[in-house]
Amino acid sequence: MSGFDYVEEAMFGKSIFKNESSLYPEYVPPELPRREEEIKRLARNFRSLLGKEGSFSVNVAIVGNAGIGKTNLCKYTMKRFESTANSRHINVKFLYYNCHSFRSKTAILRNVLSEHFHIQSRGFSDEEILDMLVKRLIKEDIRLIIALDEANMLNSEDILSIFHAGEYFGSEQSMISTIIISRPTEWKSLLNVPLSGHIHDQIDVSGYSRDQLLEILEYRASMALYPTSYSDETLNLIADICASSQNARHGLEILYRSGKLTDLKQENFIVPDYIRAAKADVYPELRRDVLSELRDHELLAALGVAKKLSLKGVTSTTVDDGYDSYLLACEEHEEESRGKSTFRSAIETLDKVGVIGKSVGPIEEGKRGRRAKITTFDIPATVLVERIENILSKPRDSKD
Ligand SMILES: Nc1ncnc2c1ncn2[C@@H]1O[C@H](COP(=O)(O)OP(=O)(O)O)[C@@H](O)[C@H]1O
Ligand SMILES: [Mg+2]
Repeated sequence: MSGFDYVEEAMFGKSIFKNESSLYPEYVPPELPRREEEIKRLARNFRSLLGKEGSFSVNVAIVGNAGIGKTNLCKYTMKRFESTANSRHINVKFLYYNCHSFRSKTAILRNVLSEHFHIQSRGFSDEEILDMLVKRLIKEDIRLIIALDEANMLNSEDILSIFHAGEYFGSEQSMISTIIISRPTEWKSLLNVPLSGHIHDQIDVSGYSRDQLLEILEYRASMALYPTSYSDETLNLIADICASSQNARHGLEILYRSGKLTDLKQENFIVPDYIRAAKADVYPELRRDVLSELRDHELLAALGVAKKLSLKGVTSTTVDDGYDSYLLACEEHEEESRGKSTFRSAIETLDKVGVIGKSVGPIEEGKRGRRAKITTFDIPATVLVERIENILSKPRDSKD
């Protein structure tokens, strides 16, 4: 007799999810409750693109903490803006870039050209690429709107030169508009006088209150789960947890994980215990397993960087400064420290798994090459420090 087929059960057995993918991080829901004002304001900003007598480019900043719907607000509004304009024969093109994936102006511009205009730009300078792009936009009468999400991964100069693109080539019309998305502290460190002079509107998006979070959770749960699998109590419990972070992603991730846990146990109702288990495992952007799979010296490298970044007013660090902080962390944990080149490759790994972000900084005078700028993702550095110290304090299979 053949045994129970666990694989088939996992594939076709019962699930409390009716639409699991609607809780995936990149999913943009058909409605964005509690963001009506921001949607209107964002769309209105781009009305000047719709004029018959030429259009004027617009640069808008969306600023706010993690998980409060900035990315959703931008995609939701601008995709509709694009299709509504197109249905009225106004040629608007909206392109979204996350600067964690596209980490330089060059990478973004090359992608715009090759993916969306089928122009190969290898071997050309940034200026030449922008020139080609603007000419093409003018020829085809396209108003381009580029969203730069997590924009702090770029430099002010890069952003500024994208702002300048339309004017720079002396065309009558300016064809490129932008939306710059960033968290407040990072935005402050990015924003300088020349840049702020080009921002037409800054939309400061605030965090969600507990009631708003509950409403969002109700809406998203009704889309993703069968109604018998959760109750008001379930959602209230989750709203309580994410109320302090005001972060919708936090709550949705707990909902998703507790749902997965319920499925795994082949039960049909999300009980409070599963919510608590999910809570311990979730920080919206950081899974526990990501950290526990790292080697000790990588964890210590992350700890060094995180400690540096948790200092007041510090939003980014460098390999050199991070290394000094790493040496201190090793001392504190009585671990032997490694050389700088090992530290450097640990930083590469941490970047790859998304624990930290690394971008290429501007060329500095008197220094050889470019200095990498190291930041955290949406994870507060203090949370990172706490989690890492927690792992290091427990005995575990040595990963070194
Ligand atoms: N008003 C809302 N209604 C429904 N879901 C929302 C709302 N605001 C945020 N979300 C969800 O919360 C999560 C975080 O939103 P996101 O736009 O990625 O935040 P941010 O870019 O500010 O970090 C996403 O899963 C998103 O779908
Ligand atoms: Mg975002």
